[in-house]
Amino acid sequence: MALADFLQQLDELAADAVAAFEAASDAEALEVTRVEFVGAKSGRLKAAQKGMGSVDKADRPVAGKQFNEAKTQVEVALQAAHERLAAGGASSSAKPAEIFDPTLPGKRPRVGHLHPITQTIEELKDIMGRLGFSVADGPEIEDERHNFEALNIPSDHPARDPLENFYIAAAERSHGKPLLLRSQTSTVQIRVMEQTPPPVRIISLGRVYRPDTADATHYPMFHQIEGLLVDQHVTMADLKSVLRLFAASYLGHNVHIRFRPSFFPFTEPSVEADMSWGDDWIEFGGAGMVDPNVLRAVGYDPEEVTGFAFGLGIERLCMRRHGVTDIREFYKNDVRFLHQF
Ligand code: DAH
Repeated sequence: MALADFLQQLDELAADAVAAFEAASDAEALEVTRVEFVGAKSGRLKAAQKGMGSVDKADRPVAGKQFNEAKTQVEVALQAAHERLAAGGASSSAKPAEIFDPTLPGKRPRVGHLHPITQTIEELKDIMGRLGFSVADGPEIEDERHNFEALNIPSDHPARDPLENFYIAAAERSHGKPLLLRSQTSTVQIRVMEQTPPPVRIISLGRVYRPDTADATHYPMFHQIEGLLVDQHVTMADLKSVLRLFAASYLGHNVHIRFRPSFFPFTEPSVEADMSWGDDWIEFGGAGMVDPNVLRAVGYDPEEVTGFAFGLGIERLCMRRHGVTDIREFYKNDVRFLHQF
């Protein structure tokens, strides 16, 4: 073959290859084109390389140099097409490649935080911890002994009405005894005293359940903080001091606390504790001196030890502190409400 013909063939090959690689619109098309030009067996470059054998011996150095240049052009065009497709572009001009503009403001990551009730629980633990109370835990699914009987709540007490509680329907069949979602954290008083000889000084914080219709101040699930202190010579004065200190620490020193005589089966005497809210009072829990029957039910000797107990609504405390007027806000999961805390 004449040198001039060979060189023209090379020029055409390189031009065809560059155009074809630029036109390849996806990985599949690119692969077909790649095989056509640089395929090891029958690619057009390979064919040109073979054709070089028919060029005059004297012209071969020129032919070889030109061949290498054409080969480089083809390889560069192939590489460029690879990069273009990897970057997601269909063709160099069809779609603007993603442009990074360092002058645009960044996207601020949204960082969450603990739910207001969880924050309150942590703070209440902290306050009571400083008064020497340690934290005890109890199950949310309870039996009647811990939710009622050991707490001196007789079977005809209205609080035991099945309609006032969430009984678990199949429990009696599978566990041999009725089980319910605990309606109060006072259950933990019993569980702790069963396990520990006096003195005890604990709080327990957690969920309780009652089939109440939800309104601004009621919800079928809410949280209580239970306190129990049993030791020698514990008096009502200790109870009142602890509750006053507790309320002042959490709500501030301008909160007023008052105690009203009341009745709970597990305390004698019993009080209800109110806190001031504007010109009004709102109840935040019950309290009293642990009833001797409760002490006996867990094997304590009421001649040896006395104690006080209290159970307070955590939502109410949090609402008073932050001016929340509807308990349902806590459980709607509306971030516009939640992010304020
Ligand atoms: N368990 C009572 C309730 O849920 C609250 C309560 C009252 C707890 C008096 C106590 C207590 O520990 O002494 O209504």
